[in-house]
Amino acid sequence: MIKLTIDNQTVEVPEGTTVLEAAEKLNIRIPKLCHHPAIKPYGSCRLCVVEVEGFRTIQASCTLPAGNGMVVRTDTPALQESRHFVLSMLFSERNHFCPFCQVSGGDCELQNAAYDEGMTHWPIQPQWSNFPVDTSHPYYVLDNNRCILCRRCVRACGELVGNFTLAIEERGSSNLLIADVGVPLGESTCIQCGTCVQVCPTGALIDRTSAYHGLGQNVAYTSSICVGCSVGCNINVVTRDNRLVRIEGDFGGAVNGGVLCEHGRYYPMTDQRERLTQPLLKKNGKLEPASWDEALTAIADRVKPLVGKGAHSVVAIASTRLPAEALSIFKQLFGEGIGSRVVTSVEEGLPTARSAELAQTVGAFEAKLEALKTSDAVITIGVDLSRNHQVAGFFAKRIRPQGVPLIVIDPNENGFDPIADVALKPEAGKDADTIGWLLAAAKGEAVSDQKIGEAAQLIKKAQKPVIVYGKGLIAFNEPIVLQKLIEYARAIGASLIGVKGEANSFVASQYQLDRPFALNGQQAAYVAIGDDYVTERLLQRLEKAPFIIAQASYASKLTALADVVLPVTIWAEQSGHYVNLEGRVQQAHAALVAAEGVRSNAEALQAVAESLGVKTMDNWKDALFQRKPVVEIG
Ligand code: SF4
Ligand code: FES
Repeated sequence: MIKLTIDNQTVEVPEGTTVLEAAEKLNIRIPKLCHHPAIKPYGSCRLCVVEVEGFRTIQASCTLPAGNGMVVRTDTPALQESRHFVLSMLFSERNHFCPFCQVSGGDCELQNAAYDEGMTHWPIQPQWSNFPVDTSHPYYVLDNNRCILCRRCVRACGELVGNFTLAIEERGSSNLLIADVGVPLGESTCIQCGTCVQVCPTGALIDRTSAYHGLGQNVAYTSSICVGCSVGCNINVVTRDNRLVRIEGDFGGAVNGGVLCEHGRYYPMTDQRERLTQPLLKKNGKLEPASWDEALTAIADRVKPLVGKGAHSVVAIASTRLPAEALSIFKQLFGEGIGSRVVTSVEEGLPTARSAELAQTVGAFEAKLEALKTSDAVITIGVDLSRNHQVAGFFAKRIRPQGVPLIVIDPNENGFDPIADVALKPEAGKDADTIGWLLAAAKGEAVSDQKIGEAAQLIKKAQKPVIVYGKGLIAFNEPIVLQKLIEYARAIGASLIGVKGEANSFVASQYQLDRPFALNGQQAAYVAIGDDYVTERLLQRLEKAPFIIAQASYASKLTALADVVLPVTIWAEQSGHYVNLEGRVQQAHAALVAAEGVRSNAEALQAVAESLGVKTMDNWKDALFQRKPVVEIG
C-alpha cells in the first residue's frame, strides 16, 4: 500500500493508483475532462493538474501514479490560473456557443468545468473555422465544432469495444475526429453500439433518439438489466414523464463495464409494435375488449376440465425474456398444478437444452465471462459474436491488440472472419471432425489440413485459451459434438463459455422448460410470450390448437389467432430476476409504469393460477438449484 497526503489529508491506496483516484477516495474533487474511469488515463487536457512537493512543474493527476510520502495540493492560485487558461483555450478553439447545444445546461462537462472555476466568459478571442456536421449515422450526430479532442470516444471505441473506427486526423489546430479514413460516420465500420456517444463530455457526439428530450436534471435513472440476450448487460434506463428517453450502459456494471451493443441500446427505442392495454376475448370469430375477470373466467371455463388430463390437457410455452419469478409460477401452474405434459419455453430445441442435459452427467463445464476478458487465445465455434451476444464479442475483440489470436470456426460467413487469425470453414455438420483434428493436433499428431495446423500452432502457445460456443455448434448436430468439445477444451486447458438464447434461457433450462414443444391432441395452448417476438415456427405448431390463450404485450399474428389475450408488461415495466449466460443472478427494476389494465407477467400467471384453484409458491430462487447447472450459479 502507498501512503500520501492530499490537501493535508492522508490516504492509503494500493500501488498503481493514480493521484486523481487517491483524491477521489478522500472525496476531493479534481476537475478533469479527458479522463473517464472506464478507459485508460490519457493525460491530454491538463485540467486535472496538481502541485506535488519536490516536483518542479505542475502534474496531470490522472496519469500520475501515487507515490509513498507524496504531498499533493489540488487547489492553489497557480493551479486555478492554469485551469482557467486551459478552459479559455478550449472555449476559444471551437464553436462553444452553448445555448444551441443539446447538452448545455448541466450535461456538458466542459461547460460545468467552467462554471466550477467561476468563469463567466473567456478572455481569448475565439478563432475557429466551421467544420461540417456529420449527420449520416442513424443514431448519432458528429459535430466537430463541439469537439475538445479529448479522445475519450476514440479510446472507448478501441479499448472497450475493440472496433477502432474512430481516430483523430492530425491537422494541427484543425484536428478532426474522423471515422475510418475520413468517411461519413454512417458509411464507416461503426457497429452502432453508442459507447462513443455515452463517453463524450460535450455535444460533439449526440444521440439522435434522445437529443433535446431532457437533460440529466429532468430525467430519472433506473438501474436495470438489458434483456436483449443472455449476456445480461447492466444498464441505466433513462425516463421522463413515464416515457423511455434512452438506455445507457452502467460503467460500474460487473457484466459489461458500461458497454452495450446496438441491439441493447437502440432496439427498445425503435420498437414500433402495437401495445395491448386490455384483455381481449374472441366472440363470433372476432377479438373484442373484455375485463380481466371475463378473460380469467373464459380461461377457467375452458381449462378447469382439462386439469389432470395429462396428454390431452394444455400445452404451455413461455418466452425466456420473462423474469425468473414469472417462469417459476408458469412452471408450477402448468407442471404440478395442471399436470400438462408439455410445459416448456422458446428455448426448446436450442443448445441450452443440450448443454443442461450434459451437465447432469458431467457437472458444470462452463466458465465465467471474466475468462474471456483475460484470455490469451479465443476460439469461437458455432456463434457469430459480431451479430449475437455482441458484448461478449467486444471482450474478444478488445484484447486483440495485445496479440491475442482469434480462431473462428463456422461453416457460414461470420462477422469475425475478417479479423480472425484463422477462419476455419468446416462443411455444415462437420464441426465434430474439425474439433477432432484440433484435438489430434493438441496431442501432437500430424494434421494434413494447413489451416487447422496454423490454428493449432496459435492455440498451443496459449496458457488460458477460451472457447466460446453457440447454437451453430450443437443445434444442428449430434450431441457428441459438445462432448468432443469438452474433451478438446480439457486437452488444451481452455475455459468453455456457452452463449445462450435470451435473457433468461439459463433459468428456463434450470426449470427444465426446454423440452420439445409439440401439439398432440391437447385441447388448449397457453403461450406466455410477453414482449418477445413470435416466430413463424411457433405459429405453425399452434395451428391445430383448438383454444389458444396468449399472454402478450404486443399485438401479433399470435394474438390474432388467440381466443383469449391477456395484456402484460414489457421489460421496462416489470421488475424481476435474470440469470445470465455465466450464472450471474441479477435484478431488473421497473422504470416505467404500465397502462391501467396491463399486469406484469408474474401477476397475470398468478391470476390464472388462482382462477384455476392452483396454489403456487414464491420459490424461484430455490428452484434454480433443483438441477445441476452448466455453470456455477452466483
Ligand atoms: Fe443487451 Fe445482449 Fe447487447 Fe448486452 S450484449 S446490450 S445483454 S443485447
Ligand atoms: Fe487529466 Fe485530462 S483529465 S489530463
